[in-house]
Amino acid sequence: MNHLVAPSVLSANFTNLQADIELINSSEADWFHVDVMDGVFVPNISFGFPVIKALQKFAKKPLDVHLMIVDPDRYISQFREAGAEVLTVHLEACNHLHRSIQSIKQHGMKAGVAINPHTNVELLRDCLAEIDLVCVMSVNPGFGGQKFIEHTYTKVKALRSLIEQTGSKALIEIDGGVDLSNYKKLLECGANVLVAGNTVFASQNPIETIAILKNKS
Ligand code: DX5
Ligand code: ZN
Repeated sequence: MNHLVAPSVLSANFTNLQADIELINSSEADWFHVDVMDGVFVPNISFGFPVIKALQKFAKKPLDVHLMIVDPDRYISQFREAGAEVLTVHLEACNHLHRSIQSIKQHGMKAGVAINPHTNVELLRDCLAEIDLVCVMSVNPGFGGQKFIEHTYTKVKALRSLIEQTGSKALIEIDGGVDLSNYKKLLECGANVLVAGNTVFASQNPIETIAILKNKS
């Protein structure tokens, strides 16, 4: 499959969010990556339903919502109502991960599971066949603009082989520190979805940067 690019709204300009939404709409980007942080699971608070509903109103591409919150089961139906098409929970935040995955799918969304840099991909083995997307965190979650963790390449390769072994159809998403110097290698290791916040929104020409990230060669 052709890989997808998902600019992270966390790095957008919140004083004129509509302009950045239109920018992504008119680009080659595939999804909007939407980071929700609760100040408990991660040491930062981002935004919640009012902002996501505003996004939904103008976004012409799917919302890929990444929940960095404890006990995410409490809010699954509300994120569906707010417009999420892909809903990702953290393995480290779920006591009953299999149940959370089932619930997301029952609500009509694609189910994603994110893993922190310290989490081994083997922990996904027993539910990988049920998962639509694995979000491999390539920084410790909580902030945009952090440095990419090099061990991610090894991890993506291991996950690609686990996906093949288990007959899973899960996409591999990379989140954190993705830039123009590492995206090709990540794709070669087996990544399918590239999240990019700072690389897109801090660039001189975000539309062109997205076009480069879409281009494998
Ligand atoms: C970090 C978030 C990321 C973040 C990525 O906790 O999950 O999605 O926005 O931002 P960059 O691409 O700037 O590292
Ligand atoms: Zn994210």
